[in-house]
Amino acid sequence: MITKVVFGTPFRTDAITAEVPQAEMLQHFQVNAEGAQTLFTYPLQHRDIVYGLSETMGRVNKRGGRYISFNTDTADHTDSNPSLYASHNLLIVDGGEHFGIFFDTPAKVTFEIDYRNSGLIRVLCESGDLNVYQIEGSSSYEIARELNRAIGRCYIPPLWAFGFGQSRFGYKCEQDFRDVVEGYQKAGIPLDWICMDIDYMDRFIDFSVDKQRFPDLAAFVQEMAEENIRLVPIVDAGIKVEPGNPTYEAGIRRDAFCRNKEGGYFRAGVWPGMTHFPDFLNPDARAWFGEEYAFYTEKGIEGFWNDMNEPAIFYSEYAKGPRKLNFYLDMIFGKFRKKKKERDLIRDYKSFFHQADGKTYRHYDVHNIFGALMTRASSEGLEKLLPHRFLLFSRSSYIGAGRYGGVWTGDNSSCWEHLMLNLRHMPSLNMCGFLYSGADTGGFMGDTTRELLLRWLAVSAFTPLMRNHTGCFTRQQECYQFDGTEEFKSIVSLRYRLLPYLYSEYMKAALTGDLFIKPLAFLFPEDEKVRDIEDQLIVGEGIMMTPIVTEGATTRSVYLPQDMTMVKYDGKTFTSTPAQKGTVTIEAALGEAVFFILDGKRVPVGPAITNTSQIDWEHLELLGNGGEYALYADDGLTREYSLDNLRILR
Ligand code: NOJ
Repeated sequence: MITKVVFGTPFRTDAITAEVPQAEMLQHFQVNAEGAQTLFTYPLQHRDIVYGLSETMGRVNKRGGRYISFNTDTADHTDSNPSLYASHNLLIVDGGEHFGIFFDTPAKVTFEIDYRNSGLIRVLCESGDLNVYQIEGSSSYEIARELNRAIGRCYIPPLWAFGFGQSRFGYKCEQDFRDVVEGYQKAGIPLDWICMDIDYMDRFIDFSVDKQRFPDLAAFVQEMAEENIRLVPIVDAGIKVEPGNPTYEAGIRRDAFCRNKEGGYFRAGVWPGMTHFPDFLNPDARAWFGEEYAFYTEKGIEGFWNDMNEPAIFYSEYAKGPRKLNFYLDMIFGKFRKKKKERDLIRDYKSFFHQADGKTYRHYDVHNIFGALMTRASSEGLEKLLPHRFLLFSRSSYIGAGRYGGVWTGDNSSCWEHLMLNLRHMPSLNMCGFLYSGADTGGFMGDTTRELLLRWLAVSAFTPLMRNHTGCFTRQQECYQFDGTEEFKSIVSLRYRLLPYLYSEYMKAALTGDLFIKPLAFLFPEDEKVRDIEDQLIVGEGIMMTPIVTEGATTRSVYLPQDMTMVKYDGKTFTSTPAQKGTVTIEAALGEAVFFILDGKRVPVGPAITNTSQIDWEHLELLGNGGEYALYADDGLTREYSLDNLRILR
């Protein structure tokens, strides 16, 4: 059951679409007004687990940490950093009592979860105007599902978006993309889409193309389509201030930009130089921004990633200074300039304003919803522009944005800790309604290694968004750049062989308000031994993924809460072996993967293919020892979703 407690006059975030009755605050919660702020306190019991806060550092169990919901452009993905790109203010308490609680406010929120052994949950909301949603249920899994259903049906990408995507900050011209296609084709490694990072643009200006390097983008999109490759351009939040820039001029005509304290349009320096931010809180501005995507859809483009939408600001009209100098100083002296940067950012966020519901809002007070509403604007625009589904994922988000698009987890690093972080983020993101999600496979910052990339691919093979992406100063990270491409082919082809299952399970989860990836403990709540297991996740209804995430290791131990079928994939064959409840050691060399199928479940797999266009839904093999499998199959593009598309495979 879900109820809400209303404090003051909350900003309408539209995070929850279900009708929710009002109720009293749950027992044991203490609420104190602290000036304009509100403090919620709850006494934890010794063994309570606290799930939620999906895009934060730390473990899946948030106990012991301090986290701040304040969307931040940051590559510092270390445990001491309290804020990443998104704010998902959900906690699920699992233990003595069982409930979920969602603090629905776009203002800053600080969470201390048994921080420094206080034994308390302390939630300090900077604004006293908020809805607090309370979800009661018999288990954490049920609570998470109830929340997902209340948020509303999650975003459904096209089938091709479940294929493998390649990306790099630095592909500059048509030939760079042709090289990627050729590299993958020659190595026989599957590929479906390639991201165009900001270098495709004319001087990093949204809704523009560098004419020298992409003389005819529509023709190039067509050329790629003939190879069954989709191009997925990036779109940043800021619109370059420049007379003659059609998007800038349209935004001015439509009065669609955020205003500053003086009443002019606020100017923020980002990649293209000075920009204005579209006022995504304003429905008219959202409608306009959505229409702008016609620039791409008219050229045959059907996939996008939205970036820099926390929003990131390198400098502003209030702290000018040479753009490049500031940027490079930040790069070199990042740590030392951090405090100043934070102060400047807060000052900037307090200096511009939004219009929504006939009121003016200071950006700082509604900061955490900005990126989510950019996703909403893009998604609603694309729904009108395209007759079928599109790919859309964003860096910044807030609960509810999962209805409009997916998310990726930003600028991680090429290190083993961040591979583990990827595994921690996945179930938590699913609890908050973000099913289409994934990390930069291989790592964004720094040079990856062959081993790390292979192991990371073997994790991403199970995440809905599977994209290899890296930064502009790193080594070439495409799979074909490494020796021994057979092993890369093996792991990426595992993904494609599993696609019938992954797609079908995603669709079923999306249409029933279920989670796609879950912690093991959600399925086996009675088993004490699974409480803290983070490197074994349930994918769909039947798979337990058990990747190797330790450098140099080719074996690992796996805990089985029940008898299962162990499946080993060596690049050619799936070998199934019964495995008994208890602890087992598995072995997977680089290029191999081992996963398990739950008792009584089946997993349909197809033959090896190199592109989603080749999926043959009619010739599937069923792995596992169960009886039947309910397969969801459609053309992967239609928006006529229906559980009537299910058919039983035996
Ligand atoms: C920041 C994003 O997080 C990253 O993925 C992208 O490559 C750069 N911006 C450049 O657009």
